[in-house]
Amino acid sequence: MANKIFVDACLGKETPYTPVWMMRQAGRYLPEYMKVRAQAGNFLNLCHDPKKACAVTLQPMDIVGVDAAILFSDILVIPDEMGMDLSFIKGEGPKFSDPITCDADIDRLIGGDEAASKLTYVFDTIKLIKQELAEDKALIGFTGAPWTLATYMIEGQGTKTYNICKKMMYTNPALLHKILAKVTEVVKLYMEKQIDAGIDVVQIFDSWAAAIEPSKYEEFSWKYMVEICDYLKSKYPNIPIIMFPKGIPSFLDKVYGNFDVFGVDWATPMELAKEKLGDKYVLQGNMEPCRLYDKEMTTQSVQDIQNVMGTSRHIFNLGHGILPDVPVENAIHFVKECQRVSKK
Ligand code: CP3
Repeated sequence: MANKIFVDACLGKETPYTPVWMMRQAGRYLPEYMKVRAQAGNFLNLCHDPKKACAVTLQPMDIVGVDAAILFSDILVIPDEMGMDLSFIKGEGPKFSDPITCDADIDRLIGGDEAASKLTYVFDTIKLIKQELAEDKALIGFTGAPWTLATYMIEGQGTKTYNICKKMMYTNPALLHKILAKVTEVVKLYMEKQIDAGIDVVQIFDSWAAAIEPSKYEEFSWKYMVEICDYLKSKYPNIPIIMFPKGIPSFLDKVYGNFDVFGVDWATPMELAKEKLGDKYVLQGNMEPCRLYDKEMTTQSVQDIQNVMGTSRHIFNLGHGILPDVPVENAIHFVKECQRVSKK
């Protein structure tokens, strides 16, 4: 079997160059993606259709030349299959019609294996991708962190202030913990099934980590993410896990847990992440995604990151997702530059 450079890099092994992928690499900046999405009718249909989801997962491999594929799906299919009614409204993003407000709402949610088993279309997509993906490329599976998922389940949609879930955090923390615990159980089993279906690496996205004050972050998010890692590592010690908590530089001193790679967001200096975590974890990141609007700015940043990280214990990525209006040729330029400057 061919070595997967991306998996080797996650495990801290030497690689011929530093591998690169981009968060949200399968998406709207690609005209080819827009075409398949139009055929599917809408975004959720696309997630539910293994053939089409497989096709858009593979698009950035050929078009952009990244070293790893990320499963095409969404973090919000989890609460959807727990019985919350998810829809994506054009121009407005995700919506749940019936947000969680009380104990009875949580009790009504489908939990554990029953919920995880409903995500068969995801596992079917993974199996298809594995048949078609080149042997030396890795497939990343993913989940949202329980906290990030809970923000949508409680607010019913994206939010700038997080006031509903933070009101719960301070006035009824037991209720919030009950939601987080129930989601954590589903996520553990869901990720186990993704691994069984064939994913090579797990990434946990805590996109809204920065909404929690530093002294509460461990209690309401990090410990649940670590619980998921402990569960997966006890069963699959060789599957690398990437943690991506966005926007929590003040928590770097307190980071702990049984995982392999720490994803650094664009607002956290790579030097700082390396100083605090570089000995213990491989680091992923962290070009500011808007630098992709300009090739010179991209080249400069790739070189700067390379100068800090050298040629080991690093994976190139953006510090958050690629935006829909980035020219494809600039994304290709980013990937080529990463592979060029790090070549041994
Ligand atoms: O390429 C990839 O990264 C794989 C696919 C992927 C999607 N969503 C597809 C998607 C992944 C890994 C996600 C994760 C996700 N989804 C996160 C965490 C990552 C992050 O960016 O912080 C979050 C918070 C979500 C929730 C979500 N899904 C929102 C808020 C939205 C609407 C906002 C937006 O970007 O449009 C989505 C929709 C979504 N998920 C799209 C895609 C390609 C756009 C849908 C479309 O085609 O119109």
